[in-house]
Amino acid sequence: MPLEIVRNDITRMEVDAIVNAANETLLGGGGVDGAIHRAAGPRLLEECRTLNGCETGQAKITRGYNLPCQYVIHTVGPIWKGGANGERKLLASCYRSSLALAKEYHCESVAFPLISSGVYGYPKAEALQVAMDEITRFLLENDMTVYIVVFTRDAVELGGKLYKEVVAYIDDVYVSEHYDPYREARRSARADGAPANGLFRRPHREDTARNETIFAESAMPAPVIGSTEPKASLDDMLSQVDESFGQMLLRKIDEKGLTDAACYKRANVDRRLFNKIKNNPAYRPSKQTALAFAIALELPMNEAKELLMKAGFALSHSNKEDIVVEYCIMTGNYNLIEINQVLFRLDLQPLGY
Ligand code: APR
Repeated sequence: MPLEIVRNDITRMEVDAIVNAANETLLGGGGVDGAIHRAAGPRLLEECRTLNGCETGQAKITRGYNLPCQYVIHTVGPIWKGGANGERKLLASCYRSSLALAKEYHCESVAFPLISSGVYGYPKAEALQVAMDEITRFLLENDMTVYIVVFTRDAVELGGKLYKEVVAYIDDVYVSEHYDPYREARRSARADGAPANGLFRRPHREDTARNETIFAESAMPAPVIGSTEPKASLDDMLSQVDESFGQMLLRKIDEKGLTDAACYKRANVDRRLFNKIKNNPAYRPSKQTALAFAIALELPMNEAKELLMKAGFALSHSNKEDIVVEYCIMTGNYNLIEINQVLFRLDLQPLGY
């Protein structure tokens, strides 16, 4: 997945380069700066001494020494002074300068901390938004794997307004996979002396609250074994196999007037995976990938479900990732970055790959 938010200690990231949230002296400090210098060993400071500092918004590169990465890119974020002093512009410049250096040194993978969001006081949710915006912009034109490394304690401040709305929606609709509404209804109906095959009204939240799980079971016609319908021949059935996932995906890309690259970048899907889907009509992607394309293409619910079905999946209220995506499509929120922030905050699988 080109861009991923991960919970980790950045000094443990096995990538080509990690980014250090340094200060203008480049001579070390606390926070992530201190952690990186401790893990890299004294030779990092020796090399930093030769760099003659770094201006806020700029970046300089050194070797990684004892760290599991080849390079450390040192960048200096702005100190937060309320937001009216060009802080956003300077922070964006940190990400652009660091990514440009990573590209210059042919890095295929790079990990960022949330620059300026610790000692320098930049509000974390806003700091993450700047990071996601700049990294996404870079990835539209470049192939690289970028991680935003977040400390667990920081994660609680992420997710924003959408997070709160989604949590409320999950509370409303989430059905635990161990919950069998029909068994519950029969059980409670028997307990109330109702006939075993009586009609049940579909549970409503208030009913459930009153422990009245009652269902309306429409009189489903019993399946007729050996139906009188003429049996379609296997050839007929095979000839009706409609378009594959890949064929529908390419058709929707054309209908939306997108390029392939614009679509898979928006979906946070790796170019190689997209080519696999494009070149093999029988290829079936993961659910996260299928959902990511539904979001990237801004499909209405029925088309999103159709695309998902072609990958062999369906949306389910016993799957919290599905509920998050369902809520976002229902409310017209196709911002994959924001959706992945909420999924990250809920410790759920992000969309993309
Ligand atoms: N791995 C990942 N993230 C980390 C780690 C770590 N090991 N340590 C801290 N963080 C997180 C913090 O929780 C915060 O979200 O990195 C983010 C940046 O925090 P700081 O390290 O305080 O950096 P910043 O806010 O940019 O302040 C820079 O602090 O350490 C000094 O010398 C540094 O003067 C400079 C200032």
